[in-house]
Amino acid sequence: MVPTLYWEGDVVMILDQRKLPGKTTFIACKDMRRVIYCIQTLAVRGAPAIGVAAAMGLVLAARAIRVKDPVKWRERFSASAEIMRAARPTAVNLSWAVERMLALADAAPQEVETILAMLRRESELMLAEDIAINKAMGRHGAKLVPKKATILTHCNAGSLATGGYGTALGVVRAAAEAGKRVKVIADETRPLLQGARLTAWEMVQEGIPVAVAPDGAVGAIMDKDLVDLCVVGADRIAANGDVANKIGTFNVALQARRHGVPFYVAAPLSTIDLDTPSGDLIPIEERDPGEVLSFAGSKAAEGSEAINLAFDVTPNDLVTAIITEKGVLKPPYNRSLAAAKAVDKI
Ligand code: MRU
Repeated sequence: MVPTLYWEGDVVMILDQRKLPGKTTFIACKDMRRVIYCIQTLAVRGAPAIGVAAAMGLVLAARAIRVKDPVKWRERFSASAEIMRAARPTAVNLSWAVERMLALADAAPQEVETILAMLRRESELMLAEDIAINKAMGRHGAKLVPKKATILTHCNAGSLATGGYGTALGVVRAAAEAGKRVKVIADETRPLLQGARLTAWEMVQEGIPVAVAPDGAVGAIMDKDLVDLCVVGADRIAANGDVANKIGTFNVALQARRHGVPFYVAAPLSTIDLDTPSGDLIPIEERDPGEVLSFAGSKAAEGSEAINLAFDVTPNDLVTAIITEKGVLKPPYNRSLAAAKAVDKI
């Protein structure tokens, strides 16, 4: 699998996902602003990948601070961290990664050179950890997949959305690796087609059968009994189990409930935000209307406006279970999410 992002010497290399599946090109980021550009334009996207990119971007920011006094250095670093934190609002992994880098810088010894080396190591650790976490999540999730199953997913929660292996697609991969006969239905995921371009690409490369379907077809497809289970990723999970994910996920969950299809969310514990009590408090990104108003060379009628909410919130009662690296969490989520996060802190 092509890497999502990696260090090449002192440069952060980011796979430009806007060009996929046609072209595999990397953007070389030598400063934090370039990493933020990649995050905001969705060259790198997906909650865990955004978190790792933010950590790497902060290493670049840290290196660019030309102050020797450790107190002043930390002030400058904190200011950069706040700029990074604001890059995209919904995926809590971004804030989570920023907090982790800030905490490390605070706890580090005084010498700037030492702090820099520790931040760099931490960013590498976060990338490696993310892959290990996804594999653990995959092992837990694969147990929920029947021997022969068609799995519907929305957006791309695959290797491309993470450090590698994927969350929702990690479950698919692990099930396939366990010898199960899995097929994937990838919602195309308007307006930016993360399903059609990215999920389908990953599955084709992996040799896992995949069919792309328009977002609006989910009900009809389930009516035909073509789906055994749904697995999606998440950008932020509130303390009560409400799930923010790519726009259209809520519709999938509603259809799944209507048709008696299990609806699973696969996400690392870093996506669970106990400081946000419920989904209505999750900030939802609104993107450029142009993403909606034109498509494949066609344009909406001149004078129309657009509603371009990048994410929606699926209420917890529609979520069958949440698959994490620590196991499968069941309702009541207030209790199971808090318990899993508490264990994670030990
Ligand atoms: O706007 P995007 O492409 O960053 O949205 C991505 C999603 O909604 C993913 O499903 C989510 O981040 C989980 S990725 C493992």
